[in-house]
Amino acid sequence: MKPITVTVLPDTATLTNEDSFVGGVSLRSLAETYGTPLFVYDEATLRARCREAAALFDDGVAFASKSFLCGAMARLAAEEGLCIDVATGGELDLVLRSGVPANRVILHGNNKSREEIARALDVGVHRIVVDNHDDIDTIAELLAPGATAHCLIRVTPGVEAHTHDFVRTGHEDTKFGFTVATGAARRGIDRLRAVPGVVVHGVHAHIGSQIFGPEGFLEAIDVLAEFIAGDSFDEICIGGGLGVAYVEGEEALSITAWGQMVRDAVIAKGLGGLRLLAEPGRSIVAQAGMTLYSVGAVKTVTQRTYMAVDGGMSDNPRPVLYGSGYEAFDISRPLAERTQAVRLVGKHCESGDVLIDEAWLPAATKRGDVIATPVTGAYGYSMASNYNRVPRPAVVFVAEGQARVVLRRETFDDLAALEIDNF
Ligand code: LLP
Repeated sequence: MKPITVTVLPDTATLTNEDSFVGGVSLRSLAETYGTPLFVYDEATLRARCREAAALFDDGVAFASKSFLCGAMARLAAEEGLCIDVATGGELDLVLRSGVPANRVILHGNNKSREEIARALDVGVHRIVVDNHDDIDTIAELLAPGATAHCLIRVTPGVEAHTHDFVRTGHEDTKFGFTVATGAARRGIDRLRAVPGVVVHGVHAHIGSQIFGPEGFLEAIDVLAEFIAGDSFDEICIGGGLGVAYVEGEEALSITAWGQMVRDAVIAKGLGGLRLLAEPGRSIVAQAGMTLYSVGAVKTVTQRTYMAVDGGMSDNPRPVLYGSGYEAFDISRPLAERTQAVRLVGKHCESGDVLIDEAWLPAATKRGDVIATPVTGAYGYSMASNYNRVPRPAVVFVAEGQARVVLRRETFDDLAALEIDNF
């Protein structure tokens, strides 16, 4: 197997015979200074992807914070001109604490609590994306006389996106949104419009995640265009979902290509006058991030070698949940041929705790070495757990030769902090 190629690395990655660099910072030095497991994000890649989204879509385009959220990320996305999409009170709270103005926040959620809606109305978020009749009832109940709630309505266009079942959302048998085909979406809009103080700016559709082909997005636009023809909306949001290449050989559309394709389709449908919005998550953060692990126990059985690292399904549950593939490379030997096939596993007490079923590493890679799994910037940290009471890794941003810790490593004290008795 050839050495890792830069196509799956952050934009600024450079490789030498004995080290790897991102943002001008040595990965060896990062592992030494901050320990492992460690999430490393390249700010230049994050900013470049945000700028692509801001350039291709209209004002109101958002970063889907569920893919990776911390204060530094929320501020970075906001600085680059994006709104922040939050789907829970916890995400909303963190984004507000990070200093992003409320009027740059978009509230989603298929089961918004009264408290979540109350806070969104109270702080004055940019948009509430209304998902169901309960949302409408709660907004009607909580909206103060004379106040305004700016809303989109989430509709389900009935599109079968070609992706994993767990991350498909646009088909009809789903918990998300109002179905177009049954007339539910039309009834939802009529009810929402009847609430005093509510402005319905337009429709929102999100058909799923990690979608490679353009077809699903184009089909969704066809359905939306027909659905809103003759209506007086001023916005259309096509959600997130753009796929990224996780392993070599995969090819994904750039945000720019995606944005152009969507805009062309919207214009062709005569909807060029509407603000065209989207809320990408993965395509902004996935490739910017990677995880550094230290190699621990190495065990060879008849069939294969198991190489265990100091993290696993707690910092990256995606292989277990979705069977997702990743690459690995030895940060101190990134240009060496990868001739050693190992099953890369974590330190959790389950046989299923596999990060990479068949990882290729240099023959010399051994216990104590630091390896990296690229493209772990999306839905890794944000879905991380404390399974087996493993503390969550630190997160470091690198840019122009400097590293800064944006989230410190969790400690055993942090983990014990919720205990009540005898502590
Ligand atoms: N908008 C809405 C309404 C969403 O539900 C999502 C993702 C996004 C935008 C952002 O989608 P993206 O651009 O990141 O594909 N944990 C799964 C992905 C779940 C996606 C949930 N919703 C994974 O690791 O693949």
